[in-house]
Amino acid sequence: MPYDLTDEQRDRYRETSLRSKARKQALLRDYNENTPVPGVDLTERLDPNDLMPQLEDNGLTTLSLFSGGGGLDLGFERAGFGHRASFEILDICGETLRANRPDWEVRSGIVEGDVRAARFTPFRGVDIVHGGPPCQPFSVAGKQAGADDPRNMWPDFVRCVQQTRPRAFIAENVPGLLDKKFESFVTENIQAPLEENYTIFKFKLSAHDFGVPQARKRVFFVGFRAARDAARWVQPAPTHGDVETLFGPMLPRNTTRSSLGLPDIGFDEVAPTLRSGFTGPRNTTGVVNSKASMNVWNEMQVWPNGVQPTRSMAAAYTAENGHFRMSVDDCALLQGFPAEWRFSGAVYQALGQIGNSVCPPVAYAVARQVAIALLGE
Ligand SMILES: C[S@@+](CC[C@H](N)C(=O)[O-])C[C@H]1O[C@@H](n2cnc3c(N)ncnc32)[C@H](O)[C@@H]1O
Repeated sequence: MPYDLTDEQRDRYRETSLRSKARKQALLRDYNENTPVPGVDLTERLDPNDLMPQLEDNGLTTLSLFSGGGGLDLGFERAGFGHRASFEILDICGETLRANRPDWEVRSGIVEGDVRAARFTPFRGVDIVHGGPPCQPFSVAGKQAGADDPRNMWPDFVRCVQQTRPRAFIAENVPGLLDKKFESFVTENIQAPLEENYTIFKFKLSAHDFGVPQARKRVFFVGFRAARDAARWVQPAPTHGDVETLFGPMLPRNTTRSSLGLPDIGFDEVAPTLRSGFTGPRNTTGVVNSKASMNVWNEMQVWPNGVQPTRSMAAAYTAENGHFRMSVDDCALLQGFPAEWRFSGAVYQALGQIGNSVCPPVAYAVARQVAIALLGE
C-alpha cells in the first residue's frame, strides 16, 4: 500500500513505472491490429461454447438481478431459458448486455437498474429469479462485515422472490458465505424468509470441474416452490477431473496454456482464480489474486499484469521477462466466456465484469439441472 512505502521505495516504483510507460509507448508506436499474434494457435484455443452446447428453448423465463457482465444470464440462455429482464446498477455492464443481446430488456444505471429501488410485482409470473448479490460483505478479501455492510443486498433478492413468486430461484455468492461465521446470517437473511415457501439447497461448485480452465469456487442457493420440483433436484455433477466415475473417466481438466492455444513448455495448470471484480487499485489491469498465484502464472510463463485490450496489442507490448501477455479476450476465455461475448468499457472495466461473473459453463450446469427439476425430464 502506497502509505507503507519508504521514500526510497516510492522513488524506485515511480522510476519503474515511468520506464515501463516509455517502453510501452515505444513498442506500441508501430503496432498494427492486423499483425498476426506469434505463438498463439487460434485453431487450438478452447471454445467455451463446447462446454455449454445451446439447448432448445424450454419455455421457462428468467429475471436476472445484479446481472454484471452477464455470466449467469448467458449460462441460462445456453441452457434454453428465455430472458425476461436484467437489473444492474452499473451503466457499463448494461452496455455489455445490450451490445451482446440487443433484444433483451436491460435496466441499468442508478435510476433504472438499482435493485434496492426496483418494483418487481410487474414480473410476477416469471419462472426463475437468479442473481449474485454483491459479495464484498462476505469475501475473504474484504472485512467480512456481513449483515452490517451497506452492500449486503440479500434483503432485496429475497424481496424480489417474495414479490414475483418464481417456481425456482438461484443465488450465487463467494464461498466465504458458508463459513461458520456467517451461519446465523444465512439462516436469518436467506433461509428463514424464504423457507416457508421454498425448499432450499446450498452447495459449492468449482469451475475447473466443469471444463473452465480456472480454479474458482462459488456457492449456490437453489430454491424450489413446489415439493415435486424439489424432489427432482439433482446437484450438477463434475464433468472434468481425474476421477473415475460410474460412467467411465471424466474429461481431462482444461489448463491455461493449452486453452489459450499456447505452445507446450512442459508445464501447464488450471489458471489461478482471476482477481474478482472492481477491487484493487483504481483502474487496475492485472488479474493476480494473491502472491501464491503469481508463482503459478510465472511457472506457466503467462504474464497476468498490464492486460491489453486486444491480442495484437498484447503481442506487440511484450512482457519484459518474455512471458505471454494476456488480452481481455484471453481473460474472458479463462473465465469461460465464448469469443463472441464482448465486454464494453476500458480494460479495467472489462476485467471487472469478467472477474465478478459466474463462469457461464458453471451457470449452464446449474441451469440445466434446474430445468430438469422443473420440467421433469
Ligand atoms: C457478483 S456481481 C454479479 C455477476 C453476475 N451474476 C455474472 O454472472 O456476471 C454483482 C453485481 O451487482 C451489481 N450491483 C451492486 N449493487 C447493485 C444494486 N443496488 N442494484 C443492481 N445491481 C447492483 C454490481 O455492479 C455487480 O455487477
